[in-house]
Amino acid sequence: MIKVAIFGFGTVGSGVAEVLDVNRAEIMKRTGMDIEVKYILDLRDFPGHKFESKVVHDVDIILNDPEVAICCETMGGKTFAYDYTKRALAAGKSVCSSNKELVEAYGPELIELAKAHECSYLFEASEGGGIPIIRNINQCLTADKIESIMGILNGTTNYMLTKMDREGADYAEVLKEAQDMGYAEQNPAADVEGHDAGRKIAILASLACGKTVPYQSLYVEGITCITSMDFKYAAKLGMSIKLIGQCRIEGEQVFAMVSPCLIKNTHPLYMVNDVFNGVLVHGNMLGDALFYGAGAGKLPTASAVCADVIALAGSLGEHIPCKWAQEQAILAPHEAQKHTFFVRMKQTGRDEAVSLFGATEYIELEGQSEECAFVTAEMTEQDFAQRYAKLSGAISRIRMA
Ligand code: HSE
Repeated sequence: MIKVAIFGFGTVGSGVAEVLDVNRAEIMKRTGMDIEVKYILDLRDFPGHKFESKVVHDVDIILNDPEVAICCETMGGKTFAYDYTKRALAAGKSVCSSNKELVEAYGPELIELAKAHECSYLFEASEGGGIPIIRNINQCLTADKIESIMGILNGTTNYMLTKMDREGADYAEVLKEAQDMGYAEQNPAADVEGHDAGRKIAILASLACGKTVPYQSLYVEGITCITSMDFKYAAKLGMSIKLIGQCRIEGEQVFAMVSPCLIKNTHPLYMVNDVFNGVLVHGNMLGDALFYGAGAGKLPTASAVCADVIALAGSLGEHIPCKWAQEQAILAPHEAQKHTFFVRMKQTGRDEAVSLFGATEYIELEGQSEECAFVTAEMTEQDFAQRYAKLSGAISRIRMA
C-alpha cells in the first residue's frame, strides 16, 4: 500500500482526499496500486469530518514517517509551501503540487532537489485545472519542437467574458456574479488583472523552451478595461474576446505575454467558454493540438493532483525527469512583438486614423454615432504604441489573435 500526505485541507486538498477515497477501487483496478491518504496537514481541526482522524498540525510527523512516500502540496502561497516541499523532497518523498505560484517561482530548483534525492516533483494541477497538459508536453509531444502555445488559462475570467459576450452584461455585474458563484475571490486581482494566466503561460513557456521564463518579465494585461461595447463590436466582426496567454519560440528567443484578444469564430479557442480552459500547442511536426477541459474547481484540479500521485506511485525510488533549467530564457522585448490591433475612437478622429494607421474601413454600431472602430495592419507593439499615442480621439484598443 502506498501512503500519501496532503499539505493543506482547503478546496483542492479536500478534493484530493475525496478523489483518492471515492476512486480507490477504480485506481486499484486501473493501476494495480492501492493508494491511501495517511495524513492531512492543516492548522485547523475538522471535528465530525470523515477524515478527522488523519489531520495533523505538525509537518514533522509526516516528514519523519518513512511510510509516507508522496506528499500533495495544496496549500498555496510561497512560504510554508516552499519550506515543506523542500523538506519533503530532501527526505526523499516525492511531491506533487497544484500551486502555480510556487511552481513558477521555484519549479527548476525543486525539480533539481527532487533529482538529487531520487524522487520527483510534479505539478500537473498548476495548469489548466483538470486538463492533462504538462504531462502531454513533457511525455507525449517529445518528438516535436514546440513552436508556440496559446491558451485560455484562467477559468474565472473566461466565465466572466463568456457572460459578457452572451448576455451583454457589464464587467462589474459579471465580476459580482463570479464572486457569488465562488469562482472569483473577494480580491479578484490575481485573476482579472491577468497574473494567474501570466504565471501559467510562464510555466508553459519554460517547459516548451527548457529554460526559465520569469513571470515578472512578461507583459501582462487583464480584462478590467473590457466593456459590453467591446463585445458589440466583436459580434459585428464575428469574433469574441478572450484572455489569452501566448508564447512563441523563435530560435533562442521567447516571446510571451498575456492580454485580452479578439478571436474569430473559426479559431479553435473560440468555443472555449465558461470556466473551461483550452491550450493550443503548435509543434513543428505535429501542427496544432488543442487540449480542452475543466480549467478550475475542486474535483477537476484534485483529479490532476491525483494523476500525479499515481504517476509518482509508479516511479518510487526514481526521478521523473522534467526539462526545465534554472538558466533564464532569452526573452524578446515586448515592444518587438507583432499584432494587429482593433482600435475604438471618436468619429472626429478619422483623419488622424488615416494619416497614422492608413485606416480605410471603419466598423460602426447602430445607434453609436459618436464613435467607430478600425483594425490596423500587423505592426510591432512599439510602432502601434507610438501611433496610438498620437490618435487624439482614441477610446481603447484590443489585440487580435
Ligand atoms: N483562479 C484560477 C482560475 C484557479 O480561475 O483559473 C485555477 O487555477
